[in-house]
Amino acid sequence: MLVSAKEMLNKAKAGKYAVGQFNINNLEWTKAILQTAEELKSPVILGVSEGAGKYMCGYTTIVGMVNGMINELGITVPVALHLDHGSYEGAKQCIEAGFSSVMFDGSHYPIEENIAKTKELVAICEEKGLSLEAEVGAIGGEEDGVVGNGEVADPEECKMIADLGVTMLAAGIGNIHGKYPANWAGLSFDTLAKIQELTGTMPLVLHGGTGIPADMIQKAISLGVSKINVNTECQLAFAEATRKYIEAGKDLEGKGFDPRKLLADGTAAIKATVKEKMELFGSVNKA
Ligand code: 13P
Repeated sequence: MLVSAKEMLNKAKAGKYAVGQFNINNLEWTKAILQTAEELKSPVILGVSEGAGKYMCGYTTIVGMVNGMINELGITVPVALHLDHGSYEGAKQCIEAGFSSVMFDGSHYPIEENIAKTKELVAICEEKGLSLEAEVGAIGGEEDGVVGNGEVADPEECKMIADLGVTMLAAGIGNIHGKYPANWAGLSFDTLAKIQELTGTMPLVLHGGTGIPADMIQKAISLGVSKINVNTECQLAFAEATRKYIEAGKDLEGKGFDPRKLLADGTAAIKATVKEKMELFGSVNKA
């Protein structure tokens, strides 16, 4: 059964570790992430962007697939199904479709509008027992075709949004989606420390987990980050393993063209990436 991310993240915040949000793109992705979480006895959050939602034939298809898989694979660890960077309308659709968690990304609105819309969703999510992630300070990089620079959030605005009663808060601290450029300035730990000071026990979310060095991840966790989003790194690992399979001519050997064989190495690479991240984030055996 899907659960809200509230309990797993409050436990992570108190225990000074982080739960990974791994974005899903199809059946193989979802299976690889769920199996790894179960093997490592780790709680997990499956992230779905609005673009991935469309790709996978809509939110109700995804809810059906994930619920079916939890049942058929005998998954016992806590699993939250979460809308990633949702619009106000997208969040409402996911709530309707049976997601257990949503993000409303109002970071591109003026703060007053971000507050007003977040507040409405807090009331809806509270009533239904779902977790809600809000965002202050846009995360840079490319997400579904939208490119932004890595902003640094205003800690006072973070407090205003946290005080609305959201479950977790994503704040821009110089992080970006996708690969980091060679001249990246790194995370702004001063900002993170200030946000943590003002928001207290609120679990903080670090987006753009791909390519952030391990020491920065650990420092971010020590400063209150309890949810870390990873997407691109699984995509890169999948693509590399699949490319190697094809370049080695394995699709031309026997029944190597069967998608169950063709996608097997890529799927194993996703599992290895998720395992590495869960170990780094400290969520192993925390289910
Ligand atoms: P990456 O693709 O950089 O890992 O970021 C994922 C993310 O933050 C999804 O919201």
